[in-house]
Amino acid sequence: MRRKIIGSTVVATGCAVALAAVSGNVVRAEEADAASIVGAQFAAGGNKPGVRASGAKGVCVSGQFTPSAEAASLSKAPQFAKSVPVTARFSMGGSNPKVSDKAKPVTRGFAMRLRDPAGDLVLVIISAPVFSARTPQQLFEFASVRAPGPDGKPDAEKIKAFGVANPETTKQAAWLNARPVPASYAGVDYWGVHAYTLTNARNEANVVKLKTVAAAGQLGLSEDDIKTKPDSFYADELKERLAQGPATFSLVAIRGEAGDPTADPTVMWPEDSRKTTPLGTIAIHALEPDATCDAATFDPVVDLPAGIAGPADDPMFAIRSPAYAVSLSRRSQ
Ligand code: HEM
Repeated sequence: MRRKIIGSTVVATGCAVALAAVSGNVVRAEEADAASIVGAQFAAGGNKPGVRASGAKGVCVSGQFTPSAEAASLSKAPQFAKSVPVTARFSMGGSNPKVSDKAKPVTRGFAMRLRDPAGDLVLVIISAPVFSARTPQQLFEFASVRAPGPDGKPDAEKIKAFGVANPETTKQAAWLNARPVPASYAGVDYWGVHAYTLTNARNEANVVKLKTVAAAGQLGLSEDDIKTKPDSFYADELKERLAQGPATFSLVAIRGEAGDPTADPTVMWPEDSRKTTPLGTIAIHALEPDATCDAATFDPVVDLPAGIAGPADDPMFAIRSPAYAVSLSRRSQ
C-alpha cells in the first residue's frame, strides 16, 4: 500500500490515522530481512572487512546546530530550543572503502547526531531527493544484482534488466547523473527522503521531508577536475575549507501537502511548489578521528527525541535500525 497525506496539518492526539489514506499500489508480500540486505550490500562492494555496509569511505567531523526562530513552533525536540553539539560523518555510498571521490552515480552521505542529554536526534541523509528502492525486498534485489562476478565486475545486463523491471530504482541514478559530481562534501545538498512528523508543544503535527542546503552552493567538478583530481580528495578539501571557517548547511523542513506520499522514499515531493521552513543551521567546525564515528552507528530510527518521528508506514525506514546494527556487528569483528 502506498500512503499519502490527506491533510497538511494534523493534531497528533488521536489523529495519526489521518495520515494513512490508502491509494492502490501493492507492496510485494515477501520481504528481505535486514541481515540478507546487509549481506547483499557487503557483497556488492566486494565483501571488504571492517567497513560499513554503506558509507564505507567517509570523514568524521564535529560542529554545532543552532535552531531557527521558527523551529520550536514545529517541533518540541530539545534540539529546536537551543544550540547543541554535533558529531557527523560525510561518506560515499556503498561498501567499497576504495571508491573514488569522483564516482558517479554514487550518493554522498551526511550522517549527523545532534546531541542532547534528553535524547539525541540522528539524521542520516543523502545527496539525492530519492532512495534507490521502495521496499526491503527491492533493496535486497537491487544490491544482489550488483554483486561482482568471477571477473570482478557486476553483470551489466542483469543490472539493466532489473532497472527495466523496477523503474523506480533508476530514479536516484538518473538524478545524480543529471548533475555534476560534487567537488566537496560541503558543496552539495542532502535529503532525508523519508516523511517525518514534527510535533510541537501544543501537540500539533506536521508532516515534512528534511533537507540540508549547503551555504557554499552546489560545487561541481569540471571535466578537467575529473581528469586531474586524485581518487581521494574530499578529506583534504574539507580540512582546507574548515581552516578558513565553518562549513554550514541550513536544515529545512519541506512541508507536505495533501496527496504527498509518506511511505515511498523513491518519490520526490514537488519541492519547488512546497512551503519550506528553516529549522536551523548546522555548522561543521573540525575533522575528528575516525574512531569518534566508528564506535557506534548513526541510527536514524531509534535515535529520535519526542517532537520528531519517522514514518510508521514506510517499510524502508524501520528496517534501517536492524540493518545498521548488523553492519556494526560485522565491521566490529
Ligand atoms: C532502507 C533501507 C536501508 C538499509 C537496509 C540501509 C543500510 C545501511 C547500512 C547497513 C549502513 C551501515 C551502517 C553502519 O555500519 O554504521 C548504512 C549506512 C548509511 N546509510 Fe543506509 N540503509 C538504508 C536506507 C538508507 C537511506 C534511505 C539513506 C539516506 C536517506 C541511507 C543513508 C546511509 C548513509 C549516509 C550511511 C553512512 C552512515 C555513516 O556514515 O555512518 N540509508 N546504511
